[in-house]
Amino acid sequence: MTERITIRRPDDWHVHFRDGAMMKACLPETARVFGRAIAMPNLTPPVRTAADAVAYRERLRAARPAGSSFEPLMTCYLTHDTDPDDVERGFREGVFTALKLYPAHATTNAAEGVTDLNKLDRVFERAEKIGLPLSMHGEEVDPDIDIFDREAVFIDRRLGPLTEKFPGLKMILEHLTTAVAVDFVRARFPQVAGTITAHHLELTRTDMLGHGMRPDFYCMPVAKTERDRRAIVAAAVSGEACYFLGSDSAPHPLARKRAIPAAAGIFSAPTAIEIYADVFDREGALDRLEAFASLNGPRHYGIAPNEGTITLERVAWTPPETLPVDGPEACIPVYRGGGRLNWRVAA
Ligand code: NCD
Ligand code: DOR
Ligand code: ZN
Ligand code: ZN
Repeated sequence: MTERITIRRPDDWHVHFRDGAMMKACLPETARVFGRAIAMPNLTPPVRTAADAVAYRERLRAARPAGSSFEPLMTCYLTHDTDPDDVERGFREGVFTALKLYPAHATTNAAEGVTDLNKLDRVFERAEKIGLPLSMHGEEVDPDIDIFDREAVFIDRRLGPLTEKFPGLKMILEHLTTAVAVDFVRARFPQVAGTITAHHLELTRTDMLGHGMRPDFYCMPVAKTERDRRAIVAAAVSGEACYFLGSDSAPHPLARKRAIPAAAGIFSAPTAIEIYADVFDREGALDRLEAFASLNGPRHYGIAPNEGTITLERVAWTPPETLPVDGPEACIPVYRGGGRLNWRVAA
């Protein structure tokens, strides 16, 4: 039985850090493990311009623990007003790592997202030309579409046609939750890659709804069937270049997770790499964790992998139930906090 594994330092290609006291509390949890992380732009108001991103990047850097070399990677929240020249300037100045598409109202703080993809043609043309990838929350928001079908319908109605209209535009379908999405990504790679969260490797809709309603397991896109979960696990542990790590760690105050309606989002930064390691271990695929966590993402985004390493060891431990936050938001529930984990990052 493998007891320790050392891999190149991983990156997290999808994190919500928020701002202010939440950011100060959450960012160190990601920086303890990951060399870089994509800082998602769905703040209120969102990070829409290169200037917004520069300012947010400074706040994120200032929240790093002393001596940390962690680097936040910035994205541009697309709206109908996104300016292709600003996007290009942000890319050339090393500010933007990707564009981020939120279909309007698809999830938390997506109210200002996109209602008509055609209005973004000029932005997509420019991104295609300069080599700036497009990351997306891939859910169809048509109210006639059942929540469990949103991802598959988005692929059919939006993503498929978009890949054909802009064949040179590199894309990332975030947080895969269905077998349909796993298959689509494999078929369309290298144009399209997909990220996979730690919680979607573990959860099904039965976990969320079948034994008492679990708002702590509630996120967008919602977890799907056991068959879908098996497809996601198989994709992740395959080590195939089209799938990589994006935790979608999304902190919400405990009171918001317990409210009606409950906030969507699962805060996994304190436990994510440990859960990925456990899943890969159970699948007998620890030798492919490095490809998934540390190599495939940088390759798709066209940047070098990290130089350093981390070591994971098989040690049982119990993560804290919540992460304290200064101020009135008080604390954030931690995914799998208070439970037992089998892997831990070695000191
Ligand atoms: C708010 C939060 O949870 O702190 N989000 C944010 O700052 N991006 C509100 C929300 O996510 O619903
Ligand atoms: O559950 C989610 N929460 N899904 C998202 O896409 C956004 C996130 C958030 O920001 O809380
Ligand atoms: Zn999303
Ligand atoms: Zn997200």
